[in-house]
Amino acid sequence: GKVRAPTHIISTISDDRGEEPCYAGVPMSSIIEQGYGVGDVISLLWFKRSLPGYCTKFIEICIMLCADHGPCVSGAHNTIVTARAGKDLVSSLVSGLLTIGPRFGGAIDDAARYFKDACDRSLTPYEFVEGMKKKGIRVPGIGHRIKSRDNRDKRVELLQKFARSNFPSVKYMEYAVQVETYTLSKANNLVLNVDGAIGSLFLDLLAGSGMFTKQEIDEIVQIGYLNGLFVLARSIGLIGHTFDQKRLKQPLYRHPWEDVLYTK
Ligand code: ACO
Ligand code: LMR
Repeated sequence: GKVRAPTHIISTISDDRGEEPCYAGVPMSSIIEQGYGVGDVISLLWFKRSLPGYCTKFIEICIMLCADHGPCVSGAHNTIVTARAGKDLVSSLVSGLLTIGPRFGGAIDDAARYFKDACDRSLTPYEFVEGMKKKGIRVPGIGHRIKSRDNRDKRVELLQKFARSNFPSVKYMEYAVQVETYTLSKANNLVLNVDGAIGSLFLDLLAGSGMFTKQEIDEIVQIGYLNGLFVLARSIGLIGHTFDQKRLKQPLYRHPWEDVLYTK
């Protein structure tokens, strides 16, 4: 009989060997002819299935809302400095992307992990937040540098509004809102931020769509797919900042001495 030589790579999401490339088994012609959007393509390549329209729309809203947040945030700042040092597009982009992490944009997975665990264990917001404090861990998805109780993050409100009218359940989001109510009683800037809103709402999307088993949801949360949404989205803005600096022919950036505290 035939002997199959062992392969060195296993791949399950795409195939370019036939007449046309396929994403999770769906040929490119169907993707185009059926009017699929970026949300559908993300569904196929990340989740290996076609998700219902409200889910792909939600994914697209996340991408649009997180595409940029001005020149002053960590990622854009790094990209701008790198572009002004004369570096190319890819270098400027990755320099910005490398700032995405637990404090900036990369708190979505941890927010989903901690909110899921606390909500599934029916912890009160008090028990959850104070428990985190005892462990010395800041609650991922809570807190913002410039947003506060009186200057709410419009992006969070838009995500919540969409989910409330389109998702079958917003259980995890409501839990995150209860946590926010508690943290706001401690300090004005401890709002539910965009990472926390996406993290909690994605849990609702995964659980409510009926498209994932409990085991698959646990795997998605454990592997950490969701920071990918911010990385993908913010790449759009970081590429824009690179072009902006080049277009403006901005010179090498040097930070002013006056803005540094030189001390022993
Ligand atoms: N949970 C609990 N307490 C908090 C939190 C939090 N998430 N954030 C701030 N605090 C409290 C702490 O008591 C903190 O004191 P500490 O430094 O002794 O821990 C105090 O508020 C003051 O915090 P600051 O450092 O002044 O807050 P800052 O404005 O610098 O931080 C930040 C903003 C980084 C977003 C912070 O709130 C945080 O770490 N949040 C969790 C991570 C997160 O969700 N990041 C995503 C932000 S949204 C985005 O980037 C797109
Ligand atoms: C962002 O989307 O970059 C932010 O929420 C972070 C910030 O400080 O504005």
